[in-house]
Amino acid sequence: MKILYVTSEAAPFCKTGGLADVAGSLPPALAANGDEVAVVLPLYGQISLEWKEKMTFRGNIYVDLAWRHEYCGLFSLKYQGVTWYFVDNERYFRRDSLYGAYDDGERFAFFCHAVMDLLPSMDWMPEIVHCNDWQTALLPIYLKDAAVRWEAVRGMKCVFTIHNIEYQGQFGESTVSDLFGLDYGWYSGGTLEMNGCVNLLKGAMICSDTVTTVSPTYARQLHYSYYAHGLESIVDLVGEKMHGVLNGLDVKSFDPSTDQAIAKCYSAAKLQGKAVCKSALQKQLGLEVNPDVPLLAVVSRLVSHKGVDLIREVFDGIMDLGIQLVVLGMGDKEYEDFFRWEQGCYPRRMSAQIAYSDKLSRQIYAGADLFLMPSKSEPCGLSQMIAMRYGTVPIVRQTGGLADTVHSCQVGQEDGNGYIFANYNAYDMLYTISQAVGLYHGDREGFRAVQRRGMTGDFSWNTSARTYRDIYTSLLG
Ligand code: GLC
Repeated sequence: MKILYVTSEAAPFCKTGGLADVAGSLPPALAANGDEVAVVLPLYGQISLEWKEKMTFRGNIYVDLAWRHEYCGLFSLKYQGVTWYFVDNERYFRRDSLYGAYDDGERFAFFCHAVMDLLPSMDWMPEIVHCNDWQTALLPIYLKDAAVRWEAVRGMKCVFTIHNIEYQGQFGESTVSDLFGLDYGWYSGGTLEMNGCVNLLKGAMICSDTVTTVSPTYARQLHYSYYAHGLESIVDLVGEKMHGVLNGLDVKSFDPSTDQAIAKCYSAAKLQGKAVCKSALQKQLGLEVNPDVPLLAVVSRLVSHKGVDLIREVFDGIMDLGIQLVVLGMGDKEYEDFFRWEQGCYPRRMSAQIAYSDKLSRQIYAGADLFLMPSKSEPCGLSQMIAMRYGTVPIVRQTGGLADTVHSCQVGQEDGNGYIFANYNAYDMLYTISQAVGLYHGDREGFRAVQRRGMTGDFSWNTSARTYRDIYTSLLG
């Protein structure tokens, strides 16, 4: 089977969030199963020279986007059994950050159009085109649009994955013909129109052959307005072709027995190294070096849907449990400032690392005892899985992928690997943290059993990559 995976970011080349982890690890897992897999993404200025030196220039074309006529280069490299294609246009992709520019709509419309036009320049024509999130949502529409004229794309099947339904790609009506270069009928006929605007996510959901999202629980939740952010009627509409497939993790990269970023490697069978990681982390962050104080970690984008408000509401109550706290992440200024302020209030007990750092995040996953993730909504979430791999016991809200990966140990369940609270309520969260701290102090052996269960759980792509393959196979009949 020939699969083209289309994404706006992929680790290890460029990353802002979980999408990059998935795009960096699912395609190699599919390739390992014997399929031909290629990934295509923009050639951002952020991609390091080290990678750029490994790329081969494949040629260039010009892409017509409505009245625009834009240069478009194609580069490629081979890595982990996959061909990675990079779409080059410096005006669009050499920017300070991957997203957040005034012309993001134009940049990713260009990317989608370029992928269409570059298909003949790639090693093969795909049978499956797998797109992700709003940035690639025009592609399923372009494929349907071109199929009438272009024999070679007619048989292609398209899978679209929603990693987070909050970001929908909403634009004014005039973009249909003036930017996306589509016939107005795509809008007036209802495929792209949602509440008086263009909604690319809606268009992709309608035009794709299969829609997936990143956990079974999130797939069910998307039928409710609380989670679907206005698209619940479209989720209902495409219900038949919608699947929830739980993300896996790059278990080779996230492995405490080989991770070079951490102070000392360790495994479920030999946990001693984790204590070394903890004291190294305490020292590095300026916390009191003390093996017996439970160290609670938050590694997260500091935005509302990650549940930061709950932490803020009962912050002193959390600290009154006698713990140490480290927060790593960036996001909304009000949250960043809050954690900076609290660091001053709790010297040697609280560390606010307002930054993005892969290395420090690994040191925190390794050095902490407990990991807090109280998300309001969480399509899948990877951090809780990484925490468990590193023997750090997660405390999560029962939602989306958190509910599918963390099993409660609260009432002595045999398979419990963490702590769960159901309601989006700060005091429920506080009570649950106190239970975890209670186990840490009161029954260290019991705590280790929970750690070990997390560490030995299967978070690999094995099962999910097979599920995707089954989806592709059934589409191709
Ligand atoms: C988004 C979601 C996150 C998910 C990731 C990868 O970032 O918010 O829950 O794990 O995509 O699918």
